[in-house]
Amino acid sequence: MRFSPILTELGVYPFSALDAAKSRAESKGVELIDFGIGDPREGAEPFIRDALVNALEDVAGYPRAAGLPELRQAIAEWLSRRFAVDIDPEREIVPTLGAKEAIFSFAQIVVDLPGGNDTVIVTEPGYPVAARGARVAGARVVQLPLQRDRGHLPDLNAVSAKTWQRTALLWLNYPNNPTGACAPPSLYAEALDLAEQHDFLVASDEAYSELFFGEPPASGLQAPVRQRLVAFNSLSKRSSMTGYRTGFVACDPTVADALRLYRPTVGTAPQEFVQRAAVTAWRDEGHVERARARYRRKRELLLDVLRGRGFQHAGGSASMFLWMAPPDREPADQVALRLLESGIVVTPGGALGPSGEGFVRFALVPTEAECARAAAILEEVA
Ligand SMILES: Cc1ncc(COP(=O)(O)O)c(C=O)c1O
Repeated sequence: MRFSPILTELGVYPFSALDAAKSRAESKGVELIDFGIGDPREGAEPFIRDALVNALEDVAGYPRAAGLPELRQAIAEWLSRRFAVDIDPEREIVPTLGAKEAIFSFAQIVVDLPGGNDTVIVTEPGYPVAARGARVAGARVVQLPLQRDRGHLPDLNAVSAKTWQRTALLWLNYPNNPTGACAPPSLYAEALDLAEQHDFLVASDEAYSELFFGEPPASGLQAPVRQRLVAFNSLSKRSSMTGYRTGFVACDPTVADALRLYRPTVGTAPQEFVQRAAVTAWRDEGHVERARARYRRKRELLLDVLRGRGFQHAGGSASMFLWMAPPDREPADQVALRLLESGIVVTPGGALGPSGEGFVRFALVPTEAECARAAAILEEVA
């Protein structure tokens, strides 16, 4: 049978490889505490689950791509409370099935191969979905390294004018996965300036905006001129609702129109009972504060132990991730394998891009009890 050559070119999704290593360890009887994928083991709060159950009706018809007006309204009100931005719920918000599918497919609506607008710029190490989606859309992908000595911010001056001319889309992701770094408003301003000069869009993946332990991170939507800014966010991390699949895109009405043209064909309108649970979640901040407090405790516990064992914290003050440099320059792959044998699953940074070599990522998603157990193990083996 024949398949698209792009599949071979993409290779295995990084976390599928991690899953295989985990299965091998489990088959040897090792009990795992999983700091690998960013999927919280502490679930959505009961009032959110109740909202979903109460929204289930006898007939659940096809949802519409535009989403429920009350969800768009709840999102616009949240954006206004959180970032003091004025977003029109009718024209500037498109609900999505989590951020991932929208990030993956976005290149398909902006890349213009015959027109020479064929390039998507991403940062690395990073969440692999934007680049993979761009490749499936046939785009040329240019990777900008994120380095510790630049605060994990891309050097936009390193991109040639020729590349900017061909650029359809520049992806930024702050708070950043995997480094936890936040972006200053000047980064968005600089990117949007270039976007205006060279006629491209800036896509801002803000999935971790609510997991912060210092100052609340900025949003690209706060830029004074935000016509070319497309923000992606979701309840997966903010409200521990990964399995619900609910997020949104906030953007200029012309971009929202393009999304509403494209999306009904793909079938990615979120289920209405999920949308109703999402309304409840966006309207409440108490559960987000409780989640942040939990992450902060786990973060402090793990940071303390890891620093004591000679790891350096190389990342920033937000997201659910600890980006750690192992002691004595031990290769990160080797550290990850060694920890796996003792039941601690981490992601070697190289799996997230070449500039991730030399670091390991801890996703602080196990429960507090599991983190306490992991801390005791790390005291022995890290
Ligand atoms: C940087 C980043 N963006 C987006 C997502 C997608 O989140 P979701 O599809 O669950 O909303 C993730 C998930 O891990 C992520 O790490």
